Parts: sequence; structure tokens; C-alpha cells
Amino acid sequence: MERSEKLIDKLAQTRDLTDEEFLALLEDETEETREALAARAREVREAIHGKDVYIRGLVEFSNICKNDCKYCGIRRSNRNAERYRLTEEQILECADMGYDLGFRTVVLQGGEDPYFTDDRLEQIIRKLKDRHPDCAVTLSIGEREKESYQRLFDAGADRYLLRHETADEELYKSLHPEEMSFAHRIKCLRELKEIGYQVGAGFMVGSPGQTKASLVKDLRFLQDLKPEMVGIGPFIPHHDTEYKDCEAGSVNLTLKLLSIIRLLLPDVLLPSTTALGTADPMGREKGILAGANVVMPNLSPSSVRGKYLLYDNKICTGDEAAECIRCMTARVAKVGYQVVQSRGDHVSYKEKN
Ligand code: 5AD
Ligand code: FES
Repeated sequence: MERSEKLIDKLAQTRDLTDEEFLALLEDETEETREALAARAREVREAIHGKDVYIRGLVEFSNICKNDCKYCGIRRSNRNAERYRLTEEQILECADMGYDLGFRTVVLQGGEDPYFTDDRLEQIIRKLKDRHPDCAVTLSIGEREKESYQRLFDAGADRYLLRHETADEELYKSLHPEEMSFAHRIKCLRELKEIGYQVGAGFMVGSPGQTKASLVKDLRFLQDLKPEMVGIGPFIPHHDTEYKDCEAGSVNLTLKLLSIIRLLLPDVLLPSTTALGTADPMGREKGILAGANVVMPNLSPSSVRGKYLLYDNKICTGDEAAECIRCMTARVAKVGYQVVQSRGDHVSYKEKN
């Protein structure tokens, strides 16, 4: 613990550690160290964002996916997934309802569904921006060509979430089919940054085969890319995948990583994720207390919620949007923070505009 205390000081002051020091910190699994990291992370986060927690309305608009990531419940080879695709009108309705509930960011998330061509997406984004000019639009629709990213940006999209999943190339290979590559993933992230999106990277904690050394690579990767947002959550097995019998990722390790990421990238927009809330009934609250400052309640129509299942036992699949936002607001308040009605842009964006 004494060593860890010193490492936490060094990390908070220099925003850096050696690989060996990162490893030592990750390997110290004591509650004291976890809590000391969280306390530092809260300090840093409150100095920049106060007690504010930003909300994003998540619209899971298609679970059709041409990819076959081995861990994911909506991978194309899962014949048991009941597929759906929302219409443009349904997507716009979700956004309208979200707006009325106080959301100022809508996240369009979906599988890599070829139906959603640039033309179709552009039209949806333009209509969204037309109806709600004060809303940010975030896309989370996987790997595309740079021209496509550019067109969607020009249509009005503000942000893009594309988790790198793991920065350990060997592990990346083992989690994905042959045709996917870490190099292409990174290329996409760099292009998104170049275009001017606020970019979210991120990874799963405890994916099959992941070591603490892999996680150190993830931290290095984040230091280098400097994304505006970082999404992390524990790996949770899905019963229709080859990893069905694998152990889920650790909630406590996820919390420690949230705190470390807050210290590495003090300004970062860091969600307390649904996977964290699924792995532990108090997971999202614990995430906020570990330094997270974003929550992403679900805005998808209740008729499709139970179908967007990336992993087993996902929470909030039976709730209406209004119920989710009410519940989330109360949960955040209970741990001493407040949900705010704001776009919740990254500070660098505010400086630019
Ligand atoms: N457990 C936890 N997270 C998962 N994701 C996909 N499958 C799982 C799983 N089984 C995450 C991936 C993806 C994000 C949308 O959901 O990191 O980028
Ligand atoms: Fe969805 Fe609590 S956040 S019901």
C-alpha cells in the first residue's frame, strides 16, 4: 500500500507511470488502494466538472451486424439473435422523446448494418439537427471509410464512439475474426480525430485472455490518442458465443481503471457504463464515485430493448425511457452528484467554438 500511495501521487502529479509502475498499481488489489485512487480521481474530476454528470440518450437503432466479434451477442453468426432495425421515423421519435425528457445528446448506436448507407444516415442526422439544433449527435456505428466519416460529420454529427477493444494486438486477434484488424481500428480512430469529431475510444475489462500487461497497453494507447471520451466496462459472457463459460470481468478492476483513466486524462468524458451496472447492481454509482462523469440511459423503444443484447442479463431492458432517466437521476443524486441538462461537450470543444 505504501508503494501504491506513492504511485498514486506520482500518477496524479505527472499523469504518467512506467509500465512496471502501472502493473504494480493494477496488481495491488486492496480496497485501500482502490479507494485512494477513487478519492484522487474524484478530486480531479470535481475540479474540472464539479458534481455534474452528463446524460446521453442511447438509441440502439439496429442490431444487424456484418461483423463477427467473438464476444458479442449480436455477431452475425448468432442465429438466435432476433434481428431488428428501426425506421427513420422511429429513430426521430426516440430523439424527440429524449429531448422532452431533457437529453441534449443523442447517441445513435448500432451494429455494422449495411442498410444504413451514408445517404440514409446523412438524412437522419440532418433531420435530427434540424429538429433539435441544440442537441449533440453521437454516432457509434463501427468502422467505415474516411469519406463516410467525413460526410456524416458534414451532415452535423458531433462525436463518434469506437472502442479500440484492446490495444494488445495479439489479444485483438484472438477476440476477432480474421478479417478484422487492430491496425484498421486505429486507422479509423485517427481519421475520426483528424476530421474533428470528439472521439471516444475504450475497451473491455477482463475479456478472455486479457492480462494486466494488456491493460497497461490500453493505458498507453489512451495516453497517445488522447480521446475526448473513454468507454470501459467489464466483459460479460453471452450465452450464444464461444466465451459463454468464461468468467466475467472484475467490477473492482474496472473501477480502478476508471480512476486511473481520470488521472491520465483529467478532462475526459467518462461514462459509468451499462455493463458495469449489469455486473453489479450498484456498479454505475460506484463508477461515478470512481471518477466517471457520464451516464447513458436507454432511449430505445421498449419493443426492441430486449433484442440489443451484446451480453447476458443486460439491465434496463424492461423499462420505459422516462423511467430510466428518473431512476438514473435518483441514483446519481444518491451518491452526491447531479444529472445536468447540457450537451456536455469536452472542454477542448468549448475552447474551439
Ligand atoms: N461484454 C461486455 N461488453 C461487450 N461489448 C460487446 N460485447 C460485450 C460483452 N460480451 C462492448 C464492446 C463494444 C460495445 C458497444 O459493447 O466493447 O464496443
Ligand atoms: Fe434504466 Fe434505472 S437506469 S431503470
